[in-house]
Amino acid sequence: MTEDFKSDFLVIGSGIAGLMFALKASRYGTVSIVTKKEIMDSNTALAQGGIASVFSHVDSFDLHTQDTLDSGQGLCSKEVVEAVVKDGPGMIRELIDLGVKFNLDMEHKTAEHGELNLELGREGGHSQKRIVHAEDMTGKELEAVLVRHVRDNPQIQVFEDHIAIDLIIGSARKKSGMLLTAHENYCCGAYVLDREFSSVKTFQAKSTLLATGGAGKVYLYTSNPDIATGDGIAMAYRAGATVANLEFVQFHPTCLYHPEAKNFLISEAVRGEGGVLLDADGNSFMEKYDPQQKDLACRDVVARAIDTELKKSGADSIFLDISHKNAGFVKKRFPNLHARCLEYSYDMTKDPVPVVPAAHYMCGGVATDMNGKTDIERLYAIGETACTGLHGANRLASNSLLEALVYADKAATHAIEQIQELQFLSIPEPPPWDECDTVDSDELIMVTQNWDEIRRLMWNYVGIVRSDKRLERAKRRIEIMQAEIREYYWDFRITADLIELRNIAVVAELIIDSATHRKESRGLHYNIAYPNKDDLRWLKDTVLRKSIMN
Ligand code: SIN
Repeated sequence: MTEDFKSDFLVIGSGIAGLMFALKASRYGTVSIVTKKEIMDSNTALAQGGIASVFSHVDSFDLHTQDTLDSGQGLCSKEVVEAVVKDGPGMIRELIDLGVKFNLDMEHKTAEHGELNLELGREGGHSQKRIVHAEDMTGKELEAVLVRHVRDNPQIQVFEDHIAIDLIIGSARKKSGMLLTAHENYCCGAYVLDREFSSVKTFQAKSTLLATGGAGKVYLYTSNPDIATGDGIAMAYRAGATVANLEFVQFHPTCLYHPEAKNFLISEAVRGEGGVLLDADGNSFMEKYDPQQKDLACRDVVARAIDTELKKSGADSIFLDISHKNAGFVKKRFPNLHARCLEYSYDMTKDPVPVVPAAHYMCGGVATDMNGKTDIERLYAIGETACTGLHGANRLASNSLLEALVYADKAATHAIEQIQELQFLSIPEPPPWDECDTVDSDELIMVTQNWDEIRRLMWNYVGIVRSDKRLERAKRRIEIMQAEIREYYWDFRITADLIELRNIAVVAELIIDSATHRKESRGLHYNIAYPNKDDLRWLKDTVLRKSIMN
């Protein structure tokens, strides 16, 4: 028999977006947080740089808005950008009140630091210093403080090692995979696999939030942790929600190049403090690609420049050099990076460090309105899972934690209002999870084979530089793998690996379809057949929608 859990709010994912939403929603009702590993396993915990927000008296909301719009290259929603930028300082104050310790600069109390004396860093594409940070481990500090509050909150129950399989959608018309209800198209929870006991549970809720982070694991090389398999995007799409702008995958220019350094990012803040990119001969090169911003150009420009340099020289990596700065300053500003690089025998204070680009952030995702609501009733998506209109064709560095915080607040406010307004309509009990005639698999090789193939295919054919031919090849191959995965999904008992494979395959196909649709180059999407972005026809989001589950 399927175990059944009921709460007012169901939160899927435990990064900053999910935890902040849960804390706010808990003021009104009960919250279940479902997270597929331990609560601290999230993309947030790896975030180094910080949160972009206006505190300096020489900065302004207008400047932050303009930098975000410039980086997004015509595809940001100005209304969204203005709202997020304006709410930033208030959200940072809330975090400080919760106990988050950001770096302060008590020595230089100048106009640049603003009233809270926060130490402000700079990153690519920002015209001002505005990155609020906690050493070079901002995400870890945020996550630790939020987890403490969540654990202490009697309204919130956390289910670790629980991975969501699919959303439960109510529909007035009979559709495959949907629950027949009096009202059309709303979410009433999710089926979730308890990894420890291999049992499927039903989580019912009046309001459901997708905050599962991004999908870096769709690519062979990524700065993301293993959990980043695009679960929220895939589930929402299968349930019939609209997804948008998935061709805009951000590649971070500087991940450590070392065979054992899995996912190890070297923060853009290093370039913000004067770090310079060098080719294999020790020459700087960014002035050729962006003579004004040079090493602090936007990420799309820097990642493409590195890709070009690597292809030209045949070298395995380029180098990031901050050894010209005072060693004491480097160790104090980047204690974690310095220590981690030493583990791989690189001393940042003395030598240039070898780096390569890697998949880092999905600028697209589940399309939402200004409240983080999707086009399915009672279903919200926030953080990297969502496409709110903030990032456009290229996210400005350190705007992601900001977006997660602001939308956690907006979505919680809206979800609370909604469930207060709506009488909880009588929903028939969702049918228990049906294992039909499935058996335990004796073919686990299918999962690993397809997993490796998808990630390599995406890296080689749908990476930093794309072409029509590569996209066509990618599409042909992903279709074959999708058919295999579907067949396997229905025949064998569900496992966490199979759920993740099914999700990365969906997200990979959505990226390929979105990239194929956009016949121009803009921001993070670069197709050699269409190098320009002058055609106004393409000044719009790429939107995909499927109406039934399979
Ligand atoms: C970094 O520290 O370079 C990453 C920050 C971000 O992706 O916004």
